[in-house]
Amino acid sequence: MAILKIAKMGNPVLRHRADEVPDPTAPEVRRLVEDMLETMHDAPGTGLAAPQVHVPLRVVIFEVAEGRAQREGGEAVPLTVMVNPVIEPLDDATSLGWEGCLSVPGLAGMVPRHDHIRYRFQTLDGDWVEREAKGFHARVVQHECDHLDGMLYPQRMDDLSLLVFTEELKHGAPQPRNAAVKEEAAS
Ligand code: NI
Repeated sequence: MAILKIAKMGNPVLRHRADEVPDPTAPEVRRLVEDMLETMHDAPGTGLAAPQVHVPLRVVIFEVAEGRAQREGGEAVPLTVMVNPVIEPLDDATSLGWEGCLSVPGLAGMVPRHDHIRYRFQTLDGDWVEREAKGFHARVVQHECDHLDGMLYPQRMDDLSLLVFTEELKHGAPQPRNAAVKEEAAS
């Protein structure tokens, strides 16, 4: 196991579509996931996508711990390893919420995301799993899967006045001009 170096915004690996994993059961995929877990826990972060550790493959890990879920008013999600994930929004409803990213250190932004999604992915055994997610759970999955398509959260923002240094949030978070804020997120 090893703690991997995290690519930051501007690195080309974060700008390109990552490749499908042809065989999720391959030993090198399991080794990658072990290193990603160690890296995510060291950071610490809620989620991590393989391009963030300079590996252009469609692999994501995330976890919504019980305490975090209570703060966000959503459900806890056990540690999840996703290979070749696919997301489908279930309706048009979106909400704004704060997000941070290990590849955009020190900043946070108010990002619109779908409230309610279905997603499916392969496990390290190669089986397909399908889940529905709402709220913070759905936000984390959308944030992480965006990394697989070369997208960072600031690119999803429609009001860059709400992109801030987290250390300045102690002065009070800026409010969006005309939308309800439902969640805070960092992954
Ligand atoms: Ni991120």
